[in-house]
Amino acid sequence: MNNESLIIDGLYHKYDKRDFSNWILRQIDLKIEEGELLGLLGPSGCGKTTLLRLIAGFESPSKGTITLNKREISSVDKVLSPERRNIGMVFQDYALFPHLTVLENVMFGLKIRKETSRVDYLINIVGLDKLKSRYPHELSGGQKQRLAIARALAPGTNFILLDEPFCSLDMNVKLKLRSELQTILKNCNASGLMVTHDPEEAMSICDKVAVMNDGEIHQMDSPIKLLENPKTLFVSNFILGNNILQLKRDGKSYSSCLGEINISCSIDKKDIKYISISPKFISIERSIDGDAIIAAKEFLGEFFIYKLIIKGETLRVRTNINKTLNIGEKCILSINKDSFFFLYPGAYKILV
Ligand SMILES: Nc1ncnc2c1ncn2[C@@H]1O[C@H](COP(=O)(O)OP(=O)(O)O)[C@@H](O)[C@H]1O
Ligand SMILES: [Mg+2]
Repeated sequence: MNNESLIIDGLYHKYDKRDFSNWILRQIDLKIEEGELLGLLGPSGCGKTTLLRLIAGFESPSKGTITLNKREISSVDKVLSPERRNIGMVFQDYALFPHLTVLENVMFGLKIRKETSRVDYLINIVGLDKLKSRYPHELSGGQKQRLAIARALAPGTNFILLDEPFCSLDMNVKLKLRSELQTILKNCNASGLMVTHDPEEAMSICDKVAVMNDGEIHQMDSPIKLLENPKTLFVSNFILGNNILQLKRDGKSYSSCLGEINISCSIDKKDIKYISISPKFISIERSIDGDAIIAAKEFLGEFFIYKLIIKGETLRVRTNINKTLNIGEKCILSINKDSFFFLYPGAYKILV
């Protein structure tokens, strides 16, 4: 089967082309199937926008290739210009034409000016049919972003790039629009790549998510697989919010700041260095003999998150709201029964 919309193969990039400068992107391999929405998720500065600029054709790669709909659009030797790629773009700041109405903004990108049925269809799909003659300054943030999505899809493109599209919207509008985005893309038969630094956003609407840090893709998987099998410490910490604790080896046994850790005998233990455990799988008990001290406390509506210092390490513990402890109190921590943790390197899942 060969139904990929976008293929990125061994891509490297640096802005400063001198030999000694650092790579901004290293060995990027990505595939987006037709009709799929891929989330590109990573912290600020990790290279997400740079990768989007390469796909859009604003930058040329140092190594590797980009292929869109079976046509090679970027390589070291040849970079197809942005306007010939047929890619729609949606930015965080909307980038609408202020002197054009809603209708004119969507019409702007049309190749064939008479193709008004597609414009009507798109304006309807994004829910702006009653506002066709308004100007961008007469629209709310959510309406502007809907217009930007319709304009990006207007030229008949089946691939769009979205760079933090919901970043400047308030929470309610963001939640509504992000679930609509999936439907809009499916109705237009379009694939897309959406950049975000928010794990919840990527996990909630994307078919697959590529987790990126420091110019490299750590893992590309469905949201469920990322949760079940986070392959690196970074994925475990950034996506799942897990605690990462050091393991010490003492003869045949292993310990962390949470005490002795039972490691199943079937795994290759020689390189195991870290344990990753969810804040919800650690129990906390007040005790004057405890070696953990509460450093901070957050109330998150349905539970508390306590930040603790224990044996020089910092970790987070989640409790229900009946458990009220105070900053400065001493506690004993333990790993819950019927929970699980991961060991790294190797991403071994251990059931407790
Ligand atoms: N035009 C540029 N020239 C030089 N360095 C740049 C340029 N744009 C971005 N960078 C650097 O590339 C790295 C990745 O930036 P960017 O792709 O914008 O990250 P993100 O979108 O993930 O926040 C950063 O270190 C940034 O400083
Ligand atoms: Mg960016």
